[in-house]
Amino acid sequence: MTFTFVTLFSNLVEGYFNDSILQRAIEKNLFCVKYLNPRDFSLNKHSKVDDTAVGGGAGMVMNPQPLFDALDSLKKEDENVYIVFLTPVAKPFVQNDAKRLSNKSHIAFVSGRYEGIDERVIEKYADEVFSIGDYILTGGELASLVICDAVSRNIDGVLGNSDSLTIESFESSLLEAPSFSKPKCYEGLNVPSEYLKGNHSRIRSLKLALSECKTKFFRPEQLKKHNI
Ligand code: ADE
Repeated sequence: MTFTFVTLFSNLVEGYFNDSILQRAIEKNLFCVKYLNPRDFSLNKHSKVDDTAVGGGAGMVMNPQPLFDALDSLKKEDENVYIVFLTPVAKPFVQNDAKRLSNKSHIAFVSGRYEGIDERVIEKYADEVFSIGDYILTGGELASLVICDAVSRNIDGVLGNSDSLTIESFESSLLEAPSFSKPKCYEGLNVPSEYLKGNHSRIRSLKLALSECKTKFFRPEQLKKHNI
């Protein structure tokens, strides 16, 4: 699988893949990461990529030309590339999207900076558009990293233990039960005693009850999906 980050600021993205699980996955050739800078496609003599908004409004908008040319070159290289735009004005990205997108062969994330991207680029090239939440970031790079991280851990082999994919939060609409590590007692705080007794069916039902409690408290709307 290939992820291409279409961004003016690849430095903001690169560091994330230089350590930990995703670095190991790249070393094992489970996926690769590429970068494409729209500025390299600008026909402006100063390599400008943005301009004031037509019709007025605050801030600068990314011009269509550099992005049209960058995305055409990407599609010419790989006609199966799946192009995802990041903007706060879109449907929210959820865990099911992460699973679904992990089956693509090539995803390109297009990040806007400034006040956004000329809508004609999105209209022409977007296979899908996502927001990662109801707040405004300074650009789409963090949002594309969030999505890339969530997608890539669903690629076979990226996580050591694929069980961890099936029992985690949002796989069943319930939030995951609390986890504990050793020691069993730390600074007078104990792990729930049922977790220590080794009766796995009792541990499972306790975890389900704790999951329901957490979900009811933090995300009550999720319980409706679970019919509780
Ligand atoms: N760009 C700026 N804010 C964003 C958000 N919340 N989600 C996705 N892309 C963005």
